[in-house]
Amino acid sequence: MYSKVSLIALAVVVPATASPIVGELGTRISFQKRNALSNSDGMFDHAKAIQQVVRDHNKHRANLRNLEQNAGRDAFNEGAEVRPLMAYPAHALERRQSEALTDEAHDEYWAGNITVGTSAQNFFVDFDTGSSDLWFPSINCTQSACANKHKYNARVSSTSKHTNSNFTLHYGDGSAVSGPVWTDTVNIAGLSVHDQAFSAVTNLSDSFGPQANDGILGLAYQSLSDIRMPPFVNTAKAQGAIKQAEFGFKIAQSGSELYIGGTDASQYSGDIEYHNVVGSTGYWQIGSGKLTIGSTTISSDIKTIIDSGTTIVYGPPDMVAKLYQNIPGAAVYDENSGFYSFPCNNVPSNIAFSWGGKQWTISPQNFNRGRVDKQHCIGAIAAQNLGLGNNVWLVGDSFMKNVYSAFSFEKNAVGFATLK
Ligand SMILES: *[C@@H]1O[C@H](CO)[C@@H](O)[C@H](O)[C@H]1NC(C)=O
Ligand SMILES: *[C@@H]1O[C@H](CO)[C@@H](O)[C@H](O)[C@H]1NC(C)=O
Ligand SMILES: *[C@@H]1O[C@H](CO)[C@@H](O)[C@H](O)[C@H]1NC(C)=O
Ligand SMILES: *[C@@H]1O[C@H](CO)[C@@H](O)[C@H](O)[C@H]1NC(C)=O
Repeated sequence: MYSKVSLIALAVVVPATASPIVGELGTRISFQKRNALSNSDGMFDHAKAIQQVVRDHNKHRANLRNLEQNAGRDAFNEGAEVRPLMAYPAHALERRQSEALTDEAHDEYWAGNITVGTSAQNFFVDFDTGSSDLWFPSINCTQSACANKHKYNARVSSTSKHTNSNFTLHYGDGSAVSGPVWTDTVNIAGLSVHDQAFSAVTNLSDSFGPQANDGILGLAYQSLSDIRMPPFVNTAKAQGAIKQAEFGFKIAQSGSELYIGGTDASQYSGDIEYHNVVGSTGYWQIGSGKLTIGSTTISSDIKTIIDSGTTIVYGPPDMVAKLYQNIPGAAVYDENSGFYSFPCNNVPSNIAFSWGGKQWTISPQNFNRGRVDKQHCIGAIAAQNLGLGNNVWLVGDSFMKNVYSAFSFEKNAVGFATLK
């Protein structure tokens, strides 16, 4: 698992977890599994799930604020609004903090390694298609949440440059992730770019403390960026480090990878079914979507934002209610966080998204988020108004695990293919 490297070791560690694949367009980065909402004993972790709902809510609130700043409200989806900051229920936060020490053993990560600076400093980051900034802790972060993280030290990097700007992300536990913006060389599995902007954060929200990842690498469009500088893939394209500003995700129990500079044909069969990005929201948002259960249509002409940084799927509350009405024995489990339960002995295997082409089904294994008692399990689709707009669904890993997904700035499109 994740090991803590001392600062002295950091300065002399030679990175190279992987090297570019000669003769291919792109670069493979392997992932570790990310946190499931259930414990290793298959129980639904309610406190962790609430924490994730709050984080997801506030992350997208921050995205909308950045979009408003960068592109104006005209870029919003119809019905979109910056919702109030969501706060953690006090009981949920207390329980999470007391669990901090044992937490990592149960966590699963989809994060991977990058190096920053000259000489290289290692960071373990979550690759997030639902945001557009790169950040990780600074050597100057003295908060307890930073204690077990890798920290960026500008002084030992000959290529670091300070900028005058600052970065801030608000989370609902009363604190923020914030710090100054730097530029430096960033290397992902041998793919190297210079003068990449990122924040070395000096403040880190408590909720990040127990997580194994040091920070986040955003893969959405620059208009969602608080730093207001090109994200990594765009920098790589601009500098000619990759020919195509494209990347592909395989998120699975094993062999997960991010492929930058194209898609990894060894991971999927058949063609990729591409759909144009709609609107100028800065998200990987595709339109004309449909959610079905068996032959019943739950919602059509929906917009879907494909977000690798979200564990589950969130939909408009009335539509999510309609979905669970079509699952025998389903009931509201927690109205605030939007979770529903259903009988564990009958996990739906016919829930699918489609965008005018194939039906892409969520497997029962990916739909079931764990048990709450002997008979009842929690579904991976939750009701939540995140302010993203009318008929907009936020589609995370519970869906992405079922497909190979491709993200192309060149085509301005998101595509799906069948995993090999
Ligand atoms: C990331 O690097 C750490 C060492 O710093 C290593 O233990 C871990 O296996 C690496 N993870 C991946 C997914 O490459
Ligand atoms: C941390 O603080 C020191 C001393 O003020 C400063 O030199 C350095 O640039 C700061 N930031 C980082 C990321 O090292
Ligand atoms: C960034 O934050 C630092 C430290 O709080 C502050 O001195 C500086 O003025 C800020 N820069 C801008 C552009 O707000
Ligand atoms: C950063 O943390 C310090 C104390 O640790 C706090 O006083 C300050 O308000 C925080 N800044 C932000 C932007 O949250």
